[in-house]
Amino acid sequence: MKVIVMKKYKKHIFICEHVGDKKSSKVGCGKLGGKEIKIKFKKRISKLGLTESIRVNSSGCLGACKHGPVAVVYPKGTWYGNIKLEDVEKIIKSDLLNSKAVKELEIKNVK
Ligand code: FES
Repeated sequence: MKVIVMKKYKKHIFICEHVGDKKSSKVGCGKLGGKEIKIKFKKRISKLGLTESIRVNSSGCLGACKHGPVAVVYPKGTWYGNIKLEDVEKIIKSDLLNSKAVKELEIKNVK
C-alpha cells in the first residue's frame, strides 16, 4: 500500500468565488468581489513568505450566500462575511497569524 504524505498547513482559508447561476436571483460571492479578495489574500501571503504554513484556496458556494463575500478559516472553522478588500490585511494579521477572530466580520449563524 502506498502511503501519501500530505503537507500540513497551520491555517487554511477558503474564499467563495461562486458566481451564482442563471436560474437563481441570488448573487454569488464571485459577483461581490470574492475572486479579487482571494487574489489579494494569495498575494499578501506570498509576499509575507507564509505559503508553507498558510494555504489560500477559492471555493464554490459555501452555503452562506446572504453573507457574501464569504470565507472560512480552518482548522478552527471561523466564518467571515461581507468581506471587503480592505479587510484582507485585518484577517491575515488577526486570525491567520495570531488566531484571533476578527469579530466584526465573523458570522456565527452560517445559513
Ligand atoms: S455564493 Fe458564496 S456562499 Fe454561496
